[in-house]
Amino acid sequence: MSSKTAMNTKTILLVEDDAAIRMVLNQTLTRAGYEVRPTGNLSTLWNWVTRGEGDLLITDVALPDGNAFELMPKIKSSRKNLPIIVMSAQNTFMTAIRASEAGAYDYLPKPFDINEMLAVVSRALNDAVKPPKREEGLEQEPDEKMPLVGRSPAMQEIYRSLARLMQTDLTVMIAGESGTGKELVAKALHQFGKRAHGPFVAINMAAIPKDLIEAELFGHEKGAFTGATARQSGRFEQADGGTLFLDEIGDMPMDAQTRLLRVLQEGEFHMVGGIKAIKTNVRIVAATHQDLPELIKQGRFREDLFYRLNVVLLRLPPLRERVQDIDDLVTHFLQNNKNNGLSAKSISMDAIELLQKYSWPGNIRELENLIHRLCALHADETISSSNVEIELAQITQTISGTKAHRVDLSVAIEQYLADIFVAHEPGLPPSGMYNNLLEQLEAPLISMALNACNGNQIKTAKLLGLNRNTLRKKINAHKIEIIRHTKSNA
Ligand SMILES: Nc1ncnc2c1ncn2[C@@H]1O[C@H](COP(=O)(O)OP(=O)(O)OP(=O)(O)O)[C@@H](O)[C@H]1O
Ligand SMILES: [Mg+2]
Repeated sequence: MSSKTAMNTKTILLVEDDAAIRMVLNQTLTRAGYEVRPTGNLSTLWNWVTRGEGDLLITDVALPDGNAFELMPKIKSSRKNLPIIVMSAQNTFMTAIRASEAGAYDYLPKPFDINEMLAVVSRALNDAVKPPKREEGLEQEPDEKMPLVGRSPAMQEIYRSLARLMQTDLTVMIAGESGTGKELVAKALHQFGKRAHGPFVAINMAAIPKDLIEAELFGHEKGAFTGATARQSGRFEQADGGTLFLDEIGDMPMDAQTRLLRVLQEGEFHMVGGIKAIKTNVRIVAATHQDLPELIKQGRFREDLFYRLNVVLLRLPPLRERVQDIDDLVTHFLQNNKNNGLSAKSISMDAIELLQKYSWPGNIRELENLIHRLCALHADETISSSNVEIELAQITQTISGTKAHRVDLSVAIEQYLADIFVAHEPGLPPSGMYNNLLEQLEAPLISMALNACNGNQIKTAKLLGLNRNTLRKKINAHKIEIIRHTKSNA
């Protein structure tokens, strides 16, 4: 199949229209011991390919005589085992996805580290000896709508990982601060993966009362517990053939963790109150904003479950570490607002610069909300730096006034409840909501008050305005641990 000048010398077909880049790559690859065939156009490449030349192809995307993505299916059908490495300066999520869908071995956003290129080349040539792992006939018409915005190096890494993961069923753990796009990434993994035709089902561990999580995950038979008046399918069953997104996995209670681990190990589950084992067919994607290794140390998360879920870790960077993306994100959100019927607006360059200096504790969600507010509140067609200044000053005032984030409690509760109602749609949440909610409020309230009073119950009772006996009962009921700190770390 390949043309060789000497034994074991591999030939690389190199397509790059920028002569300077082509020369550098040519020299580097030659020095590394490969034979290189450089060209600046696709028609020459096609000639080589049809003649069976080359052991590997490195190609740019946009070339003077066409687009490499359009030629790749033809190359793939005539030379199934020719590995292709795509390099591109159009560093968007869709470029990475298109490369993966066109059957590229890997995708390198420009500019790339030359050593990384050499490593990918050597890996590709080694893997080419083994049978191809990609299944045929899965080409999906991608929805050209770009779900993920941002071209920072940090996001490039994410896109590359996503492109590699798309055609697999590997379990993925997405870690990242609140509002960094964990759910959006989980959806993209599904939407562009081989399970796209199946359902995407999400369950948020933090939004469901602890004692109901197992029934939510696995469903329950009629009469399994009081109130179970009919058989109800669980999320595992609903996600059959698709993706199950386990959001806020760090909030999963220990019992449920044990059960989930068993299900993942055995590939089957039982409904609550059910006898029959049901086979699972879901791809698992989990997410958390918490430090799971720390939770493991504290005994609040099972280490074995962690390893099961953490097969591939995607760490989403906080927005403050990729301020280059702010410009693109703002443009994207302005466009969204316009599509949703708000008036079309633009933003000045110095307003963008101001946004890049802010620390974004709430990450992309916070930026999105800010842009929404700016569009709704200011009449001017162009958002100016002084508009931005006013809005940011309000946020920082709120934060510095309370030292931390002051969230309006009733807003937070409303959001929490909204999640619960949504989680039970089209039905209603189980009865006893009033007491459930009060209990959930009580535990952190008492625990923090105790902590603030260094474990002194008399002081705590006074601070809370509760009778001491009542406080003691509540501490016992919630099994709150009383921690006394020494002066030095108080
Ligand atoms: N790369 C991105 N491009 C465009 N929009 C984004 C991007 N990342 C996140 N967003 C938007 O920001 C908002 C927050 O994203 P998402 O809900 O996925 O974050 P999260 O990490 O799950 O947050 P939380 O931890 O609070 O649940 C969403 O409205 C989402 O559409
Ligand atoms: Mg989320």
